[in-house]
Order: sequence, then structure tokens, then C-alpha cells
Amino acid sequence: METVLSGIRSTGNLHLGNYFGAIRNFIRMQHEHNCYFFIADYHSLTTHPTPENLHNNVKQVLVEYLAAGLDPEIATLYVQSDVPEVAELYLLLNMNAYMGELERCTTFKDKARSQPNNINAGLLTYPVLMAADIIIHKATKVPVGKDQEQHLEMARTFANRFNRLYNVNYFIEPVAYNFGDDLIKIPGLDGSTKMGKSESEGNAVFLADEPEVIRKKVMRAVSDAGPQTPNQPKAQSIENLFNIMKVVSTKDTIKHFEDAYNNCTIRYGDMKKQLAEDIIAFTTPLREKILEFASDNEYLKKVAKMGAEKARESASKTVREVREIIGFKPF
Ligand code: TRP
Repeated sequence: METVLSGIRSTGNLHLGNYFGAIRNFIRMQHEHNCYFFIADYHSLTTHPTPENLHNNVKQVLVEYLAAGLDPEIATLYVQSDVPEVAELYLLLNMNAYMGELERCTTFKDKARSQPNNINAGLLTYPVLMAADIIIHKATKVPVGKDQEQHLEMARTFANRFNRLYNVNYFIEPVAYNFGDDLIKIPGLDGSTKMGKSESEGNAVFLADEPEVIRKKVMRAVSDAGPQTPNQPKAQSIENLFNIMKVVSTKDTIKHFEDAYNNCTIRYGDMKKQLAEDIIAFTTPLREKILEFASDNEYLKKVAKMGAEKARESASKTVREVREIIGFKPF
């Protein structure tokens, strides 16, 4: 059994792409491994959210992950800032993180470019905090997207450097958890190949979207003028509609529209109507759970408390041992 850890950005609502991508795998993994999932709210301070936004974002993420099926009784589901031991390990690791390597980090350079008036030290040391998140629980596997691979590499660097500096074999090198074929890529409704990739309005269907909103988005999805000759290859935008159908519609429905496309009788309006209803049928139970959890503050409080207790147990053990290795010893 591996110790798997994933940090969740505390911004952005879950969409179908997230659901069929990482989330479905998280739900499965929680039964197979020792899993830690946390909401990275310390990290989010690098962009200076208002206190109200910060809290609401954390709450929404928690609610949506619970609704999607993360089980707080099985996995350790917690809010990063409820585990102050992470901040202490971050401080300690910062002493062995070098300016040059932090400045060379691609995400730092991108952020410095996109927010030139707020190039704060937290942004520079973002990878150090992320390393602390991971190695504080001795996680061995970290499910990350391409954009986070460099951060994971830096976590390995910091873990190894600590071991070398103190001549111990204490921290374990975390490696990427690759979902491989299990990662279903859901395209966007705007013709792009990945949902959530572009910011364009109507690109993504969110789990919390009302049926009317879903109907509007799907009806406005990009399509084309329709096939002119039988069995014509599909344009990307049409391929996208079929690919979304593949995860929400029945085989018969898909075959019906495939046939209609191939013999040039397809009416995209009909296809989109059907697709919208099938998406709604799929998301409705999730949206209902989202609303239910969102209105149950007592439950959320219980979940957060339980997660914090489990996470702090593991984190405080690490920090105690690290302090000792470093030479902080009680008189
Ligand atoms: N940086 C990650 C992201 O933007 C979030 C994150 C923070 C994370 N700490 C982590 C991911 C630790 C994995 C492990 O998506």
C-alpha cells in the first residue's frame, strides 16, 4: 500500500473534465491506498484573496469533493491551514532552498509575468511549501498534472538535500502517480480539446450547474455545417460532442447519432438536446449532494475536524523527528 497525497487548488468549481479525470481516480484510490487529500489554502494566499473569498472557495471545494464521493472516513481529507505543522516544516525546508533554483522555476517565472505587482516571497517559495505538504506525510505517490511535474522534482530535491545535509535516510522521494489509460479526457464545448483549458464562457459544464444553464451551454456548443458526404471524418468540435456523449449517454443513443452523422441526416440541434438531457441526468444527483453538503455546516465542521486530527497526527510526528534531526533538543 502506497501513501498517496494530492493537493487541491482552492479555486475553481469542479467540471465534468475534473470528474472524469482525476476525481474518479481519487475515489477509486481511496480504497486501495493510504490517501491524503487536502485543500491548499495556504498556497492560495499568494494571489491575495479576500477573507470572504478564501473561506467560500475552501468550502466549495470541500463540498464538491465530498459530493463527488471522497469519503472522509476512509481517506484523510483536510484543509492545509488546519495543519500548522506544514508551516513549520516549510520554514525549516526554506533554509535549504536556494534563491537560484526557486527563481528558475517555470511556474514562478509565469506568475511573476502575470502578476508583476505582486511577486511576493510566498510565490517564490511555493515549491517549498508544496514539498512540505508532500514529505510531511512521507507520501510516495503524488497524482499531478504536467504543470506540476517540476514542483514534484523540486520536492525530491529538497527531500534528498535534507537527508544529505544531516546524513540521514529520513525523507522518501515522492514520485508522480500516473493514471495512464484511466484518465478520460473530456473536451470543451468551445471546440477545444480539453474542458477547463480555456477560460471562454461556456467551455465547461460544472457539476453544480443548474439544468437550464447546462441546456444553454450545450445548445451553444461549437459545431459545423454538417457532413456533406457519407462517412466523412468529423471536425474536432463534432468529435468533442460525441466524446462527451460517450461518458453520459447510452450505447444506443451514441449509435443513433453516429449513424445519422455517417448517412448525413444528423441534426446537431437534436443531438445537443439529447446530450444536454443526458448530462443533466448525470450531474443532477451530484448537484443535489453539493447543495445538501453546502447547507450542512455541522457536517462540514465534523469532516474538517476529523481530517485535521488525522493529518496532524502524521504531520506532528514528522516535525518532531525533523526537529530532533536538525538539533532542536529539549534541555
Ligand atoms: N500546486 C498544486 C496545483 O496548483 C496544488 C498543490 C499544493 C499540491 N500542494 C500540493 C499538489 C502537494 C500535490 C501535492 O495544482
